[in-house]
Amino acid sequence: MKVLVIGSGGREHALVWKIAQGKSVEKVYCIPGNAGISRIADRPFGLPLDDFKAIADFVRKEKIGLTVVGPEAPLVKGMADFFRKEGLAIFGPGKEPSRLEGSKVFAKIMMEEYGVPTAPFEIFKESKPASDYIKKKGAPIVVKADGLAAGKGAIVCKTEDEAIDSVRRILDEKIFGDAGARVVIEECLPGEEISMLALVDRDTCVPLISSQDHKRIFDDDKGPNTGGMGAYSPVPLLTEELDLDRKIREEVFGRMMRGFKKEGISFNGILYAGIMVSGGVPYVLEFNVRFGDPETQAILPLLDTDLAQVLLACANNQLNKIKLKWKKGTCVCVVAASGGYPNAYEKEKEIKGLDAAAKRKDVVIFHAGTALKDGKVVTAGGRVLGVTAIGRDITDARSKAYETVKDISFDGMQFRRDIGVKALKY
Ligand code: AMP
Ligand code: GLY
Repeated sequence: MKVLVIGSGGREHALVWKIAQGKSVEKVYCIPGNAGISRIADRPFGLPLDDFKAIADFVRKEKIGLTVVGPEAPLVKGMADFFRKEGLAIFGPGKEPSRLEGSKVFAKIMMEEYGVPTAPFEIFKESKPASDYIKKKGAPIVVKADGLAAGKGAIVCKTEDEAIDSVRRILDEKIFGDAGARVVIEECLPGEEISMLALVDRDTCVPLISSQDHKRIFDDDKGPNTGGMGAYSPVPLLTEELDLDRKIREEVFGRMMRGFKKEGISFNGILYAGIMVSGGVPYVLEFNVRFGDPETQAILPLLDTDLAQVLLACANNQLNKIKLKWKKGTCVCVVAASGGYPNAYEKEKEIKGLDAAAKRKDVVIFHAGTALKDGKVVTAGGRVLGVTAIGRDITDARSKAYETVKDISFDGMQFRRDIGVKALKY
């Protein structure tokens, strides 16, 4: 089978890399891809991501058997609906179910309706009642813009004043435009955050192994939020004692599946639950409708099953026939980012040491923001590489990943030194 992957980040490199290993896979394409993806996939030019018709025509012409969508933007715009209408197999939910990621209000209402554990909340369109609610509840409290706001829409406020100011900026000053037409205000939950991703089709839900992202730019979770500075998998917090695996399967995914059935929502793809484990309860902070980045880079190297067959089975509503096999051990992905990220940063810095890094055992370097310039690999984005290693345990995986980070350099390179350290304390 031939497979097309849509996207250009580290997540898509990991998807292409894993898909290409499958026995069932003859060739992989990626639109638009990056410098690392170029080595294992064809990157057809002149096909803009928002031209679904042109991409569908290409898929038919090349006899591509499955299209896999990485990022949320094409899903929210209806790419999967378009492909399904054209009779083409695609992995990823349609526009309507993608609202679970595109609208926090929609996600919260679904969770409340179907009994999925989530922080107590209220929804507001106007700043006066929202401010009154904040004063009644007190701080800390979390203010969230309803729509997609480039990862900046959720504000954890330490004081009432900060929360009231956030509401004013979102609802009155419209700092996020239409994405901030409504806000969700919710209780601030203490605890440990984990990511649980599940494959979902019409009848079946298959959770993947657990992972943990590191969202802040600096060590010890300091500094501003980023797209994710590293991840590891699995998370040892999911012990038998806490019974979290079962709780997440039944109370999060099971209840959402019931909700989909009841509401007539046909969800097909990855349902990603961002979870705060607080007092042994898995509270859902948010849903995404796609693979996580960088969680995917830490999850897929542990998968021992032909990924293309799994994703095709999901696209064809045959997940019930799939049993996933996982390797033993732990995988760690350390993100190397451009200096200045998540604020302004420079591009086109030459990346050195990739060949030395590639020779190491149990290591894979996933490219994110990279490009080819005059035959050299240069930086082209905020998150540049995901230096990924498998080890016997977290200590072994961390040591392999960080040894490899030492091979690599580019002007301004920054990375967190504590990816996976939390796993040692659970
Ligand atoms: P979200 O976009 O909803 O996942 O929120 C972004 C980040 O804000 C999360 O990864 C958490 O670190 C934090 N956060 C969101 N909601 C809450 C909450 N109710 N309590 C504590 N932290 C939260
Ligand atoms: N790692 C966070 C995300 O993919 O949204």
